[in-house]
Amino acid sequence: MMLIALIRPVPRSIGNCELTHLDRQPIDIARATAQHDSYRNALESLGCSLEVLPALDEMPDSVFVEDTAIVLDEIAIITRPGALSRRAETATIADALALRRRIVAIEAPGTLDGGDVLVAGRQIFAGISGRSNAAGVAQLRDAVAPFGYRIEPAPVSGCLHLKSAATRVGPDTVLLNPEWVERSVFGKLETIVIDRSEPFAANALLVDSTVLYPAAFPETARRMESRGIALKAIDASELAKAEGGLTCCSILFRG
Ligand code: GLY
Repeated sequence: MMLIALIRPVPRSIGNCELTHLDRQPIDIARATAQHDSYRNALESLGCSLEVLPALDEMPDSVFVEDTAIVLDEIAIITRPGALSRRAETATIADALALRRRIVAIEAPGTLDGGDVLVAGRQIFAGISGRSNAAGVAQLRDAVAPFGYRIEPAPVSGCLHLKSAATRVGPDTVLLNPEWVERSVFGKLETIVIDRSEPFAANALLVDSTVLYPAAFPETARRMESRGIALKAIDASELAKAEGGLTCCSILFRG
């Protein structure tokens, strides 16, 4: 089966994005767009088939498409983003995914951002964060339980999403910032701890057996390479000013 990557262009309004843990800095849209083009090329070079959703120029965070849906082999869950300004982003993602999966939607009072959902086989770690609440995670559990997925709630603090604090970098390996999420949440999975000098370094994008990884975190990159993990470096510094990581910019699923 082919790996599909849903992405959405950088919106002209990105300078007005939500910021929770970062101070606002000017964002150079041309540079952000060039970085996004490199990201898109990297995904293609790693074998993904790209599906580019229409730009939503009036929605400042719409490039961070990950937050709008969780796509499993059996079902797609349309989220209800925790930030009010982001709720309207889900309409067009639902249209795109309805062609490929049965759809369920998170409903009020639940909130859930895709950035809080980390899938590792049949185990799904669900961040309880400033964006995703217990009601949203409970609805996720109900939607996926019939297919044999288990939900592990993962309280996060100090960062935006669970995937700011932990992402998969191998079938059974998680890259982790233990300041933001407890290591014990991940049970028997192996963990690689980020270098303390690089607190934002835990967001990596695993594409088959390669990890797409920000060039900004060389110390943590060395830790992964010393464990035999193949990395492909990418500059995502302008998008990072909008408090978005590499996972945020796509939704990957088997087509
Ligand atoms: N700026 C990314 C977010 O807050 O959702």
